[in-house]
Amino acid sequence: MKILILGAGGFIGSHLVERLLAQGHRVVGVDTEADKVRHLLGKGELTFIQKDIRRVRTDVDSLVQAADTVVDLIAYGTPSAYVRRPLDVFHRSFVENLRVAESCVAQRRRLVLFSSCEVYGKSLAAAFAGRLPDPDNPAYATFSEDASPLVLGPVGKQRWIYACAKQLLERVLHAYGIEDSLNYAIVRPFNLIGPKLDLPAVKGDPAPSAVACFLAALLKGEPMKLVDGGKSRRCYTYIDDAVDAVARIVDNAGGVCDRQIFNIGNPANETTIRGLAELMGAVYREKFAKPGSKAPSTTDVSAAEFYGEGFEDADRRIPDIAKARKLLGWEPKTGLREAVEKTMASCVR
Ligand code: UGA
Repeated sequence: MKILILGAGGFIGSHLVERLLAQGHRVVGVDTEADKVRHLLGKGELTFIQKDIRRVRTDVDSLVQAADTVVDLIAYGTPSAYVRRPLDVFHRSFVENLRVAESCVAQRRRLVLFSSCEVYGKSLAAAFAGRLPDPDNPAYATFSEDASPLVLGPVGKQRWIYACAKQLLERVLHAYGIEDSLNYAIVRPFNLIGPKLDLPAVKGDPAPSAVACFLAALLKGEPMKLVDGGKSRRCYTYIDDAVDAVARIVDNAGGVCDRQIFNIGNPANETTIRGLAELMGAVYREKFAKPGSKAPSTTDVSAAEFYGEGFEDADRRIPDIAKARKLLGWEPKTGLREAVEKTMASCVR
């Protein structure tokens, strides 16, 4: 199959390119950055175009036309960017992707769109604070693709602009599916980690993700910052597990993924952010710290201080992966500790 991957040079894209090449697919990748795929150039059937998708406006149609399937990973998965540069996030995450979707509609190409677990927003327990019997009950934070409501905060909390952009994009694909027979599949990844994760120093954004921030702090011997006490919870998913699922979606054996949305995450790996910091500190100390270096530590910071005004947190989100299990025959295999160890091993030299 000939696959066009937009955003092929990022953390997820680069792993996906490697997997699809290994499976014998022909891949055309587009990204502004080539560092993460450089080792793949000249191997297998990879054509890499190092350009900003916004600057290849006129080329997108011909790239789409030449492919059997388009995988669109164009996005800013960085909460600090949602707060500080909401318009940039909207343009990158909605406007650019809409153009790709419309090209797929016009040329009748299949589209695999990377959305986000962000679309679920807050848990029901947080949205209706205090009025539910047990806010710690996982039922109020377990999200399924075709049944759960998508609950976002107010407009003044611009953190939700990314979630809203991705949600609208999903709704547009659904509508194109109904009215124009667009064949699509949507992936909602839940907190992927692994080798080649962007660290703060690399990307320039003040806070790319908790795992990246904590890793950077450990490497510098600084305390890991816990936003509002680190009480929010996430399910961390190892990149190889996620790419395994996405490769099955791209292959779409028997058409099982046609017009389906998939949660891709590991419900068994839930942790509070404080628990994550403690685990990362322990793993770092045990496996990677130089003898005599400072013991890992944490410090508390308010959300306003860390992100600025306009932030509101997603308190808890657990993926319901029954659909991926059933339709893809997929099961995430990597536990949280192993995922953290492998992520760290790739970043600590
Ligand atoms: C982000 C993106 O918004 C999603 O689109 C993306 O799907 C998701 O990451 C992901 O990695 O899949 P979020 O889960 O909020 O969403 O990711 P983080 O930025 O890693 O934040 C997780 C939690 O850690 C939040 O409660 C945040 O306040 C906290 N945090 C973050 C800290 O306590 N300290 C830090 O240094 C950074």
